[in-house]
Amino acid sequence: MKIFLDTADVEAIRQGVALGVVDGVTTNPTLAAKAGRGFKETVLEIAEICPGPVSAETVGLEADQIVKEGRILAKWAPNIIVKVPLLAEGLKAVKQLTEEGIKTNVTLVFSPAQALLAAKAGATFVSPFLGRYDDIGQEGMQLVRDIVKIYRNYDFKTEVLAASIRSPLHVVEAALAGADIGTMPPKVLEQMIQHPLTDKGLASFLKDWETVPDAKTVFEELEGRR
Ligand code: E4P
Repeated sequence: MKIFLDTADVEAIRQGVALGVVDGVTTNPTLAAKAGRGFKETVLEIAEICPGPVSAETVGLEADQIVKEGRILAKWAPNIIVKVPLLAEGLKAVKQLTEEGIKTNVTLVFSPAQALLAAKAGATFVSPFLGRYDDIGQEGMQLVRDIVKIYRNYDFKTEVLAASIRSPLHVVEAALAGADIGTMPPKVLEQMIQHPLTDKGLASFLKDWETVPDAKTVFEELEGRR
Protein backbone atom coordinates (compact mmCIF):
# COMPACT_ATOMS: atom_id res chain seq x y z
CA MET A 1 0.00 0.00 0.00
CA LYS A 2 1.30 3.43 -0.91
CA ILE A 3 1.30 6.18 1.70
CA PHE A 4 0.46 9.75 0.71
CA LEU A 5 0.52 12.77 2.99
CA ASP A 6 -2.67 14.82 2.96
CA THR A 7 -1.29 18.29 3.59
CA ALA A 8 0.12 21.42 1.97
CA ASP A 9 2.54 21.92 4.86
CA VAL A 10 5.91 21.83 3.11
CA GLU A 11 7.94 21.18 6.28
CA ALA A 12 5.75 18.25 7.28
CA ILE A 13 6.16 16.81 3.78
CA ARG A 14 9.92 17.27 3.94
CA GLN A 15 10.03 15.33 7.22
CA GLY A 16 7.73 12.59 5.92
CA VAL A 17 9.75 12.14 2.74
CA ALA A 18 12.95 11.97 4.83
CA LEU A 19 11.44 8.97 6.64
CA GLY A 20 11.50 7.13 3.33
CA VAL A 21 7.91 5.88 3.48
CA VAL A 22 5.96 8.66 1.74
CA ASP A 23 4.99 7.92 -1.86
CA GLY A 24 2.96 11.02 -2.73
CA VAL A 25 0.97 14.03 -1.52
CA THR A 26 -2.63 15.16 -1.79
CA THR A 27 -3.75 18.75 -1.32
CA ASN A 28 -7.14 20.43 -1.52
CA PRO A 29 -8.28 24.07 -1.37
CA THR A 30 -8.80 23.88 2.41
CA LEU A 31 -5.29 22.54 2.99
CA ALA A 32 -3.91 25.19 0.60
CA ALA A 33 -5.68 27.91 2.61
CA LYS A 34 -4.25 26.47 5.85
CA ALA A 35 -0.72 26.61 4.43
CA GLY A 36 -1.21 30.39 4.20
CA ARG A 37 1.02 31.02 1.18
CA GLY A 38 0.72 31.16 -2.60
CA PHE A 39 -0.82 28.00 -4.08
CA LYS A 40 1.52 27.79 -7.05
CA GLU A 41 4.73 28.24 -5.06
CA THR A 42 3.50 25.71 -2.49
CA VAL A 43 2.59 23.07 -5.08
CA LEU A 44 5.84 23.57 -6.97
CA GLU A 45 7.85 23.15 -3.78
CA ILE A 46 5.89 20.03 -2.80
CA ALA A 47 6.36 18.54 -6.28
CA GLU A 48 10.10 19.04 -5.93
CA ILE A 49 10.36 17.59 -2.41
CA CYS A 50 8.19 14.59 -3.23
CA PRO A 51 9.01 12.76 -6.46
CA GLY A 52 5.73 10.81 -6.37
CA PRO A 53 2.26 11.97 -7.43
CA VAL A 54 1.17 15.34 -6.01
CA SER A 55 -2.53 16.16 -6.35
CA ALA A 56 -3.55 19.77 -7.01
CA GLU A 57 -7.26 20.53 -7.23
CA THR A 58 -9.25 22.40 -9.88
CA VAL A 59 -11.93 24.86 -8.76
CA GLY A 60 -14.00 25.36 -11.94
CA LEU A 61 -17.50 23.93 -12.18
CA GLU A 62 -17.84 23.64 -15.96
CA ALA A 63 -16.02 20.89 -17.91
CA ASP A 64 -14.28 23.36 -20.23
CA GLN A 65 -12.98 25.37 -17.30
CA ILE A 66 -11.86 22.27 -15.38
CA VAL A 67 -10.01 21.01 -18.45
CA LYS A 68 -8.36 24.40 -18.91
CA GLU A 69 -7.23 24.47 -15.26
CA GLY A 70 -6.10 20.84 -15.45
CA ARG A 71 -3.88 21.51 -18.48
CA ILE A 72 -2.23 24.41 -16.65
CA LEU A 73 -1.73 22.50 -13.38
CA ALA A 74 -0.28 19.50 -15.25
CA LYS A 75 2.33 21.76 -16.85
CA TRP A 76 3.62 23.02 -13.49
CA ALA A 77 5.57 19.80 -12.82
CA PRO A 78 5.63 16.28 -14.31
CA ASN A 79 4.38 14.63 -11.11
CA ILE A 80 1.28 16.80 -10.67
CA ILE A 81 -2.04 14.98 -10.68
CA VAL A 82 -5.13 17.01 -11.51
CA LYS A 83 -7.68 16.59 -8.74
CA VAL A 84 -11.27 16.97 -9.96
CA PRO A 85 -14.46 16.90 -7.85
CA LEU A 86 -17.03 14.23 -8.66
CA LEU A 87 -19.60 16.22 -10.65
CA ALA A 88 -21.15 15.49 -14.04
CA GLU A 89 -18.96 18.28 -15.46
CA GLY A 90 -15.99 16.84 -13.59
CA LEU A 91 -16.49 13.43 -15.22
CA LYS A 92 -16.55 15.03 -18.68
CA ALA A 93 -13.37 16.89 -17.83
CA VAL A 94 -11.66 13.72 -16.54
CA LYS A 95 -12.51 11.93 -19.77
CA GLN A 96 -10.98 14.75 -21.80
CA LEU A 97 -7.89 15.12 -19.60
CA THR A 98 -7.34 11.34 -19.70
CA GLU A 99 -7.49 11.41 -23.50
CA GLU A 100 -4.80 14.09 -23.41
CA GLY A 101 -2.59 11.88 -21.21
CA ILE A 102 -3.11 14.01 -18.09
CA LYS A 103 -3.47 12.04 -14.85
CA THR A 104 -6.45 12.74 -12.60
CA ASN A 105 -7.64 12.11 -9.07
CA VAL A 106 -11.43 12.17 -8.71
CA THR A 107 -12.22 13.56 -5.29
CA LEU A 108 -15.22 13.97 -2.96
CA VAL A 109 -16.36 10.43 -3.71
CA PHE A 110 -19.03 9.19 -1.31
CA SER A 111 -20.62 6.23 -3.09
CA PRO A 112 -19.54 3.13 -5.03
CA ALA A 113 -21.74 4.34 -7.92
CA GLN A 114 -19.74 7.56 -8.14
CA ALA A 115 -16.50 5.57 -8.03
CA LEU A 116 -17.70 3.35 -10.86
CA LEU A 117 -18.32 6.43 -13.01
CA ALA A 118 -14.93 7.90 -12.13
CA ALA A 119 -13.24 4.70 -13.32
CA LYS A 120 -15.32 4.68 -16.51
CA ALA A 121 -14.20 8.25 -17.19
CA GLY A 122 -10.59 7.05 -16.94
CA ALA A 123 -9.53 8.51 -13.59
CA THR A 124 -6.01 7.56 -12.50
CA PHE A 125 -7.05 7.71 -8.82
CA VAL A 126 -10.38 7.78 -7.03
CA SER A 127 -10.64 9.28 -3.53
CA PRO A 128 -13.40 7.91 -1.27
CA PHE A 129 -13.62 10.14 1.84
CA LEU A 130 -14.03 7.57 4.58
CA GLY A 131 -13.61 9.84 7.63
CA ARG A 132 -16.33 12.24 6.52
CA TYR A 133 -18.60 9.23 6.02
CA ASP A 134 -17.88 8.11 9.59
CA ASP A 135 -18.71 11.67 10.72
CA ILE A 136 -22.30 11.23 9.57
CA GLY A 137 -22.69 7.91 11.36
CA GLN A 138 -22.04 5.63 8.37
CA GLU A 139 -19.21 3.12 7.96
CA GLY A 140 -16.71 4.83 5.66
CA MET A 141 -14.60 1.69 5.32
CA GLN A 142 -17.47 -0.18 3.67
CA LEU A 143 -17.27 2.38 0.88
CA VAL A 144 -13.59 1.55 0.36
CA ARG A 145 -14.29 -2.21 0.40
CA ASP A 146 -17.11 -1.88 -2.14
CA ILE A 147 -15.04 0.25 -4.51
CA VAL A 148 -12.07 -2.12 -4.34
CA LYS A 149 -14.40 -5.06 -5.10
CA ILE A 150 -16.04 -3.35 -8.06
CA TYR A 151 -12.69 -2.31 -9.53
CA ARG A 152 -11.29 -5.84 -9.13
CA ASN A 153 -14.44 -7.38 -10.66
CA TYR A 154 -13.91 -5.42 -13.86
CA ASP A 155 -10.15 -4.99 -13.75
CA PHE A 156 -10.35 -1.19 -13.75
CA LYS A 157 -6.88 0.36 -13.62
CA THR A 158 -8.05 3.30 -11.46
CA GLU A 159 -6.24 3.20 -8.10
CA VAL A 160 -8.28 3.42 -4.90
CA LEU A 161 -6.93 6.24 -2.74
CA ALA A 162 -8.51 5.98 0.70
CA ALA A 163 -8.91 9.60 1.81
CA SER A 164 -10.14 11.56 4.82
CA ILE A 165 -8.18 9.17 7.02
CA ARG A 166 -8.27 10.09 10.71
CA SER A 167 -6.33 7.36 12.53
CA PRO A 168 -3.80 4.53 12.14
CA LEU A 169 -6.74 2.12 12.43
CA HIS A 170 -8.23 3.68 9.30
CA VAL A 171 -4.93 3.06 7.49
CA VAL A 172 -4.79 -0.58 8.58
CA GLU A 173 -8.42 -1.23 7.67
CA ALA A 174 -7.99 0.45 4.29
CA ALA A 175 -4.94 -1.76 3.68
CA LEU A 176 -6.94 -4.86 4.67
CA ALA A 177 -9.69 -3.75 2.29
CA GLY A 178 -7.13 -3.64 -0.52
CA ALA A 179 -6.93 0.13 -1.09
CA ASP A 180 -3.95 0.95 -3.28
CA ILE A 181 -3.12 4.11 -1.33
CA GLY A 182 -3.97 5.78 1.96
CA THR A 183 -3.65 9.55 2.21
CA MET A 184 -3.33 10.86 5.75
CA PRO A 185 -2.45 13.95 7.77
CA PRO A 186 1.18 13.97 9.01
CA LYS A 187 -0.11 13.41 12.56
CA VAL A 188 -1.54 10.01 11.59
CA LEU A 189 1.78 8.98 10.04
CA GLU A 190 3.52 9.91 13.32
CA GLN A 191 0.93 7.92 15.28
CA MET A 192 1.58 4.90 13.04
CA ILE A 193 5.21 4.84 14.18
CA GLN A 194 4.42 4.88 17.86
CA HIS A 195 3.55 2.06 20.22
CA PRO A 196 3.88 2.18 24.03
CA LEU A 197 5.29 -1.37 24.10
CA THR A 198 8.05 -0.30 21.68
CA ASP A 199 9.00 2.55 24.03
CA LYS A 200 8.83 0.28 27.07
CA GLY A 201 10.85 -2.47 25.37
CA LEU A 202 13.51 -0.03 24.20
CA ALA A 203 13.87 1.52 27.66
CA SER A 204 14.46 -1.91 29.24
CA PHE A 205 16.89 -3.00 26.47
CA LEU A 206 18.95 0.15 27.02
CA LYS A 207 18.91 -0.27 30.79
CA ASP A 208 20.01 -3.92 30.55
CA TRP A 209 22.67 -3.02 27.99
CA GLU A 210 24.43 -0.90 30.65
CA THR A 211 25.11 -4.08 32.65
CA VAL A 212 26.87 -5.87 29.76
CA PRO A 213 30.60 -5.97 30.76
CA ASP A 214 32.03 -4.60 27.50
CA ALA A 215 29.09 -2.30 26.68
CA LYS A 216 31.20 0.83 26.84
CA THR A 217 34.00 -0.37 24.55
CA VAL A 218 31.60 -1.97 22.03
CA PHE A 219 29.61 1.27 21.94
CA GLU A 220 32.75 3.26 21.25
CA GLU A 221 33.69 0.87 18.44
CA LEU A 222 30.20 1.17 16.90
CA GLU A 223 30.47 4.93 17.05
CA GLY A 224 33.81 4.76 15.25
CA ARG A 225 35.69 6.13 18.26
CA ARG A 226 37.86 3.03 18.52
C1 E4P B 1 -8.31 13.92 0.01
O1 E4P B 1 -7.52 13.98 -0.90
C2 E4P B 1 -8.70 15.05 0.86
O2 E4P B 1 -7.75 16.07 0.75
C3 E4P B 1 -8.77 14.69 2.32
O3 E4P B 1 -8.41 13.38 2.59
C4 E4P B 1 -9.92 15.25 3.07
O4 E4P B 1 -9.82 14.87 4.41
P1 E4P B 1 -10.68 15.53 5.58
O5 E4P B 1 -12.03 14.93 5.56
O6 E4P B 1 -9.92 15.19 6.82
O7 E4P B 1 -10.70 17.01 5.31
